[in-house]
Amino acid sequence: MAQKRENIHKYLFGHPFRTDSVVADIPVSAGEAPYLLRSQDETGEVFRYALSEEDRVYGLGEQVRGIDKRGWVYASWNMDDPEIHENRQSLYASHNFLVVDGKEKFGVFVDSPGKVVYDIDYTTRGEMAIFCGRDFGLYIIEGESVLDVIRTFRKMIGRSYIPPKFAFGFAQSRWGYMNETDVREVADEYGKCGFPVDMIVLDIDYMENYKDFTINGERFPDFPAFVREMKARGIRLIPIIDAAVKAEDGYSVYEEGCKGGYFCKDKDGKPFIVGVWPGDSALPDFLSPEARAWFGEKYRVLLDCGIEGFWNDMNEPSLFYSKDSLARTIRGIAEKEGKNLSLTEFWSITGSVARLANNADDYASFYHETEGGKVSHKEVHNLYGYNMVRAASEYFGKYDKDKRTLIYSRSSHIGMHRYGGIWTGDNASRWDHLLLNLKMLPSLNMCGFLYVGADIGGFGQDTTEDLLLRWTALGAFVPLMRNHCTFGSRRQEYYRFGNRQAFKNLLDMRYSLVPYLYSEFVKSALRDELMYTPLGFLYPDDERAKETEDQMFVGGSIMIAPVYRQNTRGRNVYLPEDMKMVRMRSVSDYTEEILPKGDHYVEMGFGEVVFFVAKGKAIPLAKPAKNVAALDEEHLLWIKYADGKTTYELYDDDGFTTDVREENIRTVTV
Ligand code: NOJ
Repeated sequence: MAQKRENIHKYLFGHPFRTDSVVADIPVSAGEAPYLLRSQDETGEVFRYALSEEDRVYGLGEQVRGIDKRGWVYASWNMDDPEIHENRQSLYASHNFLVVDGKEKFGVFVDSPGKVVYDIDYTTRGEMAIFCGRDFGLYIIEGESVLDVIRTFRKMIGRSYIPPKFAFGFAQSRWGYMNETDVREVADEYGKCGFPVDMIVLDIDYMENYKDFTINGERFPDFPAFVREMKARGIRLIPIIDAAVKAEDGYSVYEEGCKGGYFCKDKDGKPFIVGVWPGDSALPDFLSPEARAWFGEKYRVLLDCGIEGFWNDMNEPSLFYSKDSLARTIRGIAEKEGKNLSLTEFWSITGSVARLANNADDYASFYHETEGGKVSHKEVHNLYGYNMVRAASEYFGKYDKDKRTLIYSRSSHIGMHRYGGIWTGDNASRWDHLLLNLKMLPSLNMCGFLYVGADIGGFGQDTTEDLLLRWTALGAFVPLMRNHCTFGSRRQEYYRFGNRQAFKNLLDMRYSLVPYLYSEFVKSALRDELMYTPLGFLYPDDERAKETEDQMFVGGSIMIAPVYRQNTRGRNVYLPEDMKMVRMRSVSDYTEEILPKGDHYVEMGFGEVVFFVAKGKAIPLAKPAKNVAALDEEHLLWIKYADGKTTYELYDDDGFTTDVREENIRTVTV
């Protein structure tokens, strides 16, 4: 692959594991890495950089806190823990790319499958320290601007995944749709309310005892017919596939996996048994090309039923326990029976139970067969979810090489962005999680992940109507627009709330925006650009723009400023230049107003979408429709902020082709 090399410096340390994160062929540089001061400690190599006051640090993809990452310690260690708050160090993904923006501008990519820690202005004020471990690749990427550095990096890691077009429609989900009746009810209610919907998501209950690639015959007596019925109504079913395979004699997937040696093994070469939803389960060894080919082919059973999209879950991998550690813990507790325990002893019991899940010792107790030989999981932990998605994606290409299939995952690592999208895991119905959703978007894009989204309304806890409305107003601009929540929480399908008109406006507006979102998405993928751009990246000389982390450009024409506080009728918006404010209740009911650069208080009602169009820009809008396929894109409506004519680069296709090309982008004059 042709890549300008002078601006990329590559270094190798120890014996790096082949992650396939980078696709460009880049020669190793001589000497020490520029900008960074190298030293060693007990964890391995450490690289330090002296941050000056004006420096900002961007990146790290799926992480807590702001767009500027200064002032915290972040660890790349894929982790299933639904308690998401700003003092966490790791979420479900490891995205080891950051950019320093100051007098010096450069990107750092740590190509490591294991733990990497970023202490950015936390332990020592004015210093960034990156703890990389022993075996890894290090890339330093130089550029004129932050966007330039990002573009070079994105080129290096290969083109981002482009899902089928229906995936830009709305998805209704909930953990707890048990059977055909439940799913039909959702479809019926959406139909009755005139709410558009493209996907209904099937969580683990469609399976037989949570066994991957099975369908519960009592709940879904004729699954292919049900898939057809839904598709005839314009709705696609999106089933979940979990990482762990139930360890049960007679279950063909487990038996095949044992026979083929496709599971991760313990030190004695036996499948390592862990507890996930199905109880005792084995972990497919996604790092082995043979195991990937085997697991990927399993999707056939669902593809043959007419399924065109999937989500992959529990693939950090999430372990509730390992069989060994559970047995040890139970024995430890049994020994205490009948004794008069001190409080410390009592807490050691509760602690031993709490430590069962996602335990570091368990991650160090099983092994992968890789092209380079046997490797401890601990060394390559962060690649697991990535390669689960890769297994599916590689098979989709074989099943139908001319068709894009939808897939998104919970766990990820840079490299996976070429194979699928992600949703950002178990958030909760909290206003700060709405804001976190917004702030994460550009960081994810920087790391190659374009097809992204968070659970709208919040996964855990009980949502409120106003939170759901505000979150949906943001979700209308996000590629993966999915309302999902956990069982036991307040139901949050839109038709369950009083202000149906407001929800309908927002959903309709989303569908009106599809021509724009699809065009901007595809251009971002083809050109290695961001779909979500923080103001500071676009107006680098404007300090206010740099500090504004709650507004965002979506594509090249629109800036959004979502409301993320309860009981507010609007919010302050900073305009880095004169812009046209558009306030839309529908494509036939909107107002436009040109606002000067500077600060404005902007009212934002529940059922309206307010956005800002940049000078010289245009946006295409379609009349809303019941799903993406029904949108009339022959007759687009245009909104622009221009004196006279301007142009827009429009992309469209049949929604499935794998031949997505720059030449198919049309410049339209409006
Ligand atoms: C965890 C996932 O993050 C969540 O979205 C899903 O509903 C549950 N697993 C059950 O499958």
